[in-house]
Amino acid sequence: MAHQQHINPLADELNSVLAPCIAGRLLSDLGNRLYFPKGIIAQSGEAKQFGKTANATIGMAVKDGKPVMLSALKDQLPGLSPAEAVAYPPTAGNEDLRKLWLDAIKQKNPSLGNAKITLPVLVPGLTAGISYLSDLFLDDKSVLLTGDPAWDNYVLIVEARRNSKLVGFSLFNETGFNVESFRAAVQEQAKLGSVRMLLNFPQNPSGYTPTKEEARAIVQVITETAEKGTDVLVWCDDAYFGLDYEDSIEVESLFARLANAHERILAVKIDGPTKEDYVWGLRTGFLTFGSKGMTDAQYDALIKKLMGAIRSSVSCAAAPSQSLMLKVLADPRTEGEKLEFRKMLEERYAVVRAFIDSHKNHPVLSALPFNSGYFMSMKCSGVPAEELRLKLLHEHGIGTIAIDPTHLRVAFSSVDTGKLESVFQTIFDVAEKMLSK
Ligand SMILES: Cc1ncc(COP(=O)(O)O)c(C=O)c1O
Repeated sequence: MAHQQHINPLADELNSVLAPCIAGRLLSDLGNRLYFPKGIIAQSGEAKQFGKTANATIGMAVKDGKPVMLSALKDQLPGLSPAEAVAYPPTAGNEDLRKLWLDAIKQKNPSLGNAKITLPVLVPGLTAGISYLSDLFLDDKSVLLTGDPAWDNYVLIVEARRNSKLVGFSLFNETGFNVESFRAAVQEQAKLGSVRMLLNFPQNPSGYTPTKEEARAIVQVITETAEKGTDVLVWCDDAYFGLDYEDSIEVESLFARLANAHERILAVKIDGPTKEDYVWGLRTGFLTFGSKGMTDAQYDALIKKLMGAIRSSVSCAAAPSQSLMLKVLADPRTEGEKLEFRKMLEERYAVVRAFIDSHKNHPVLSALPFNSGYFMSMKCSGVPAEELRLKLLHEHGIGTIAIDPTHLRVAFSSVDTGKLESVFQTIFDVAEKMLSK
């Protein structure tokens, strides 16, 4: 007998709040079932406010109003109080950090104007954010569009984990972003009733960000689709936000143009300090929603669904990371040091750019368009990317990534500037020799 799907009354309540809006229409089977329990976390939150005599709610060991903390840990984290270091943070993250991040998003994306967007929800890294969105909006009946080639984790999350389908549109034509291929893929999906897409700029693995004109065209394709009556869910993976090295690039997130564009567009910003603030292993990221006309109650219900996904998997993100990020963002040295790191990456980009521009018409390698981020990728003609990777690694000690059978990715972000030219020269020489054998 088929297993009867059980919907908790709290999930039912959230579903009926969301039903009249795009978020409700796009929920997956799991998204439908998720809810945030009125259990320990919610009751403990109330007790924090009103339990003045004794707070006997949360599973921590508390003495004189503070969580106890081992000396060894205090020695390692002298700048953090016990509460900052070891107490459980809220499910959706430290409220102060969420507010700071919202202010930063608005400041970095002036086109948002007065668009009503949610407070960012803190998740343990951008990957977790993408996985939670997949929980909420993808199941075995849905398709997620993304540029091809794409970061390899997308297919792992979307297909292996969620049993959904990742469909690629061809990211580039001869000049840059392939608007025609994007439009055709969107129109094809629209025939099935709704469109879900994941756009990542600066992109991994190509290192490309659309020009201002291309960004306008992308927004236009999405808006026109919505105007024709199709729901469009757009995830903007802004992992490498801000690392743009050419003047022609659109520096704001597509989220800024989509969050208040149309009732049939639900935009989600996936971002965080991972790469923006050079803290890869801290594991903090954010999800922020924006859709024209969604009410506060609907935004709240959607965030409760997301909190259900968080509570049922990791429960909450790590406390020290959140406390440290608050201090990092408030430190007056941070902005200046970030500019230095960015300058270093930009210099590396300039070295790679110059090498590629002066090595056109190579018989094997042709660079995909790149202008931003950490990476550049090359199409390999006549030599399998994996064979080239292995030869570079075992005979020349150079590590690269074979993205697929025909693309090699180089993370110029992680190679010292002085070494870059010789690394690229070796890659080009080895590839050419392999062809002539
Ligand atoms: C496009 C893209 N999104 C997300 C991530 C992951 O971010 P996080 O380390 O915060 O999970 C990466 C990291 O490589 C990435 O390239």
